[in-house]
Amino acid sequence: MSPTPRPSKDLKDHKDHKDYQDEIYFDGLRGVVPTYPMTYGELEARAHAAMPPSIVSYVAGGAGDERTQNANVTAFERWGLIPRMFVGAARRDLSVDLFGMRLPSPLFMAPVGVLGICAQDGHGDLATARAAARTGVPMIASTLSEDPMEAVAGELGETPGFFQLYTPTDRALAESLVRRAEKSGFKAIVVTMDTWISGWRPRDLSTSNFPQLRGHCLANYTSDPVFRAQLPADPEQDMQSAVLTWVRVFGNPLTWDDLPWLRSLTSLPLIVKGLCHPEDVRRARDGGVDGIYCSNHGGRQANGGLPALDVLPAVVEAADGLPVLFDSGVRSGADIVKAVALGATAVGVGRPYVYGLGLGGTDGVTHVLRSLLAEADLLMAVDGYPTLADLTPEALQRVQ
Ligand code: FNR
Repeated sequence: MSPTPRPSKDLKDHKDHKDYQDEIYFDGLRGVVPTYPMTYGELEARAHAAMPPSIVSYVAGGAGDERTQNANVTAFERWGLIPRMFVGAARRDLSVDLFGMRLPSPLFMAPVGVLGICAQDGHGDLATARAAARTGVPMIASTLSEDPMEAVAGELGETPGFFQLYTPTDRALAESLVRRAEKSGFKAIVVTMDTWISGWRPRDLSTSNFPQLRGHCLANYTSDPVFRAQLPADPEQDMQSAVLTWVRVFGNPLTWDDLPWLRSLTSLPLIVKGLCHPEDVRRARDGGVDGIYCSNHGGRQANGGLPALDVLPAVVEAADGLPVLFDSGVRSGADIVKAVALGATAVGVGRPYVYGLGLGGTDGVTHVLRSLLAEADLLMAVDGYPTLADLTPEALQRVQ
């Protein structure tokens, strides 16, 4: 098999994300074609063939008949970017300021709880963190990981990482997880609000498949002193008791009364994930959060809802200047551009990078991220939008 184009060392310093295209074409002159797929359809198909069926079911599956999950993707097809000429967009600037950090692009990796077991070596969280280090694309590390957060943070290089918290019922455990994230060097805390309980997922239900109950991806718990103190025996000797304890503490159905406590947990930027209603956004803003994360969890949690993209403009308006992170259904560079035009400050991708991970570890994730960025950059070049600030709702038209 021919080698995939190697990312250059100083990739994250590259201003031109489109360079990946040049690398691929020039590699072709010496007979090298890309190892990894160039379309999302092929990426998904090859990853599904490469990964064990139970993991494919967990990653690809969504809630109910997956209508909301599919609608997340097709919602992007209903918008078109209007090309502008005589702009001379020879240089583009995709960089973003987020909580005082200068990021090379608006793209980030959404938190995914089974990354560890998606990689062929069982250490997908570390492989993903290495791809973040290579590309400068931030990773939001999930609470549910196969390696502890300290090890994940250790692979991020100079790229900022955020820690995603599933708030446990035990406040002392929540505090311990956040302290550890701060000490590890994570730059923000993302609290996921829509998953204190798992949604109805027929694909996984039909094979009784729930990875955490089989002891997967609980390293942040089993390495935590507060969690360990609640166990009858070391998890190394008795994983079953650890799993049962985890079931008891995992999900906290938070209410607005908990927001002051959440806010008090950290002086890092606090972002709340899963907000789709403008009233919730206003209350979270009033409660002192630093960022809003508009997402419907990729359609995995609740079926029968709106595509996340459709609620984004109202969320942005209600956020009233607070940064808005967005994910759910992003499959291409064009999708990133459209989400930015509808007001997202930063745009997250979920399943696509997981499939890159399943196919080729760090190289596979790097390929997916670079392809997304090159496509977005080239779209802005061709269509005459040299900066993200040029991407406004007026740049888009609804497809009839
Ligand atoms: C997720 N997501 C998620 N979100 C979160 O806050 N914590 C988590 O641990 C997980 N775990 C997780 C596992 C898997 C397999 C998937 C696919 C997703 C949701 C994720 O952050 C994001 O919201 C969606 O993946 C975005 O949708 P797309 O890009 O997958 O369509």
